[in-house]
Amino acid sequence: MDKNILNLLDETRKFPPSAEFKSRAHIANKDNFVRDLDFSRSHPQEYWAKQARILDWFKDWDSVLKQGADNSFSWFDGALLNASYNCIDRHLPTKSKKAAILWEGEPGDKRTLSFEELHASVCKFANVLEGLGVGPSDVVTVYMPMLPELLIAMQACARIGALHNVVFAGFSAQALRERIEDSRSKLVITADGGYRKGRVLDTKETVDKALEGLGLDVQVVVVERAKNPVSMIDNRDFWWHELMVRAPSNHLAPKLSAEHPLFLLYTSGSTGKPKGILHTTAGYLLHTTLSSKLIFDLHDDDIFWCSADAGWVTGHSYVCYGPLANGTTILIYEGAPNCPDWGRFWRLIENYQVSKFYTAPTAIRAFMKQGEEIPGAYNLTSLKLLGTVGEPINPEAWMWFNRVIGKGNCPIVDTWWQTETGGIMLSPLPGVTDAKPGSVATPFFGVDADVVDDQGRPLPPNVGGNLVIRSPWPGMLRGIHGDKDRYIKQYWSDIPGVYFTGDEARRDEDGFFWILGRIDDVLNVSGHRLSTMELESSLVSHPAVAEAAVVGAPHEIKGEAIAAFVSLEQGRIGSDELLAKLKAHVTEQIGAIARPDQIYFVDALPKTRSGKIMRRVLRSLASGQKLSGDLSTLEDRQSIEDIAAVANP
Ligand code: WT7
Repeated sequence: MDKNILNLLDETRKFPPSAEFKSRAHIANKDNFVRDLDFSRSHPQEYWAKQARILDWFKDWDSVLKQGADNSFSWFDGALLNASYNCIDRHLPTKSKKAAILWEGEPGDKRTLSFEELHASVCKFANVLEGLGVGPSDVVTVYMPMLPELLIAMQACARIGALHNVVFAGFSAQALRERIEDSRSKLVITADGGYRKGRVLDTKETVDKALEGLGLDVQVVVVERAKNPVSMIDNRDFWWHELMVRAPSNHLAPKLSAEHPLFLLYTSGSTGKPKGILHTTAGYLLHTTLSSKLIFDLHDDDIFWCSADAGWVTGHSYVCYGPLANGTTILIYEGAPNCPDWGRFWRLIENYQVSKFYTAPTAIRAFMKQGEEIPGAYNLTSLKLLGTVGEPINPEAWMWFNRVIGKGNCPIVDTWWQTETGGIMLSPLPGVTDAKPGSVATPFFGVDADVVDDQGRPLPPNVGGNLVIRSPWPGMLRGIHGDKDRYIKQYWSDIPGVYFTGDEARRDEDGFFWILGRIDDVLNVSGHRLSTMELESSLVSHPAVAEAAVVGAPHEIKGEAIAAFVSLEQGRIGSDELLAKLKAHVTEQIGAIARPDQIYFVDALPKTRSGKIMRRVLRSLASGQKLSGDLSTLEDRQSIEDIAAVANP
């Protein structure tokens, strides 16, 4: 990490957009841009009211923003709209035959859905949902691979006013169960399988396990994908295709209120329990629609590919909602980037003539490692813009992306945001920003971001501090499902009056932001958020483990690796066999993404006199560094020496 920060401090290269890119860009004039940006900050409500015309409303709002007690916010109060109508129906008069979704399965099978076909499928499934008794404000958990049906299900939920709760199909049965239970889901939508790295995922079996003995009355809809044998329970489980044949292909989109809940999405925080982040309709849709248009500079002829799975917020905002609301054709791909070989993504770009490609730094680093000959063998000239999200991108990976994939011709938008922010908050605007490798550039319109000390005082240029957002924005989360106190404590309490992101950043003399990483006990592994507490409680739940501490260690591809320090119960021995068992245990409890990379068996964890685990010490040990810094608060100096010997023999 330290090395990364130093690299970033040295970075002075600038990459202005090409004249060719500017000639078509929605925002290409710097003076106008600065003027509009200033206006959006000084008059946010007027700004958002004007931009809100990018959506279709059944009824206009009475007020743009209302703030209630306990950091509750209400955007576009009094207005009526429908998110699915905005993503689909309103394009029918002009784009009915245009492709909305281009899909490719991992085995190479292909499907295309025009806006008209997407409309028919979403309407049918909306009718199916209603037929199963799902109504407005009910929660539907979706646990399936990246199939068109996943987006159809999300859009159909949005259409009828039910909340979708998408759970990434790599999560374990236990993690899924927890999310079904916490959200009080009425229905689970899954598939009989899906392809990942040539194997078939047992998604239906995982759902069966998750529901076993759960006291909730949950129905299950199963998409037939892999013809994987599954057991269907009478009156609980239904085949998607059997329900769909009987359903009518029209469905009048109801007029929902602006603050009608749109979805829940669980993410890790600094405690052991994942939190269900709540987003609502109008503000979220406005933020994602406008940011898609301006940051990816969307035009009618674009083929937009965001490689994120819909199990993460990126797959919500920049697959399911933002691009479709702009009437853009999106590509979705079911499988792994290296299946059957590392050329798969570049073949997809060539074959589908992808023009805008949005992916994660971890993927870029993995591709870099395979050598540039692989992408070099494909025609990538359809690309006009590249984007990254999820974690800091090291300047080296940025340069590689720019040179090898973009051929020096594509602006790169490094976008910073969070599940909680709903849409992009910091990013270059591709037609006007002189991008700096490793920097997320400047705040988006109407976003009031700052870097402050622990008392909330603004910090001077190039001093690292807390990244905060000073005033509300439309896509902001509206709460944590069922936990108002946690919502207030987590986001609005550390620094009074402002939204605290949990990230550390610095702002340079040009006002460009550089993200330095998380401040709280949250890891970022391959762009996915994992809570150290969640990992620790999983480890401790194994009978052999007495205590566990989990920290991040730098990792060439994943960004951060998971390093666990574990002390064992009396009489247990730290064998290779136990090590494998503990890794399997965490995988089973949370999912393969949470599998620790390193487990160190230690006699005792280093603690301060007040009993707090000294994570800083463990972090530097896990990174292979020598012990340094203030160790005077340490309870037992010897334990550290012992751990150092284990971690860095
Ligand atoms: C955390 C949010 C937002 C979609 C993907 C992750 C980190 C996100 C960047 C970036 C540096 C980034 C932050 C943030 N992050 N984008 N461009 N540069 N760091 O969503 O799971 O909610 O995680 O990801 O630490 O807080 P998420």
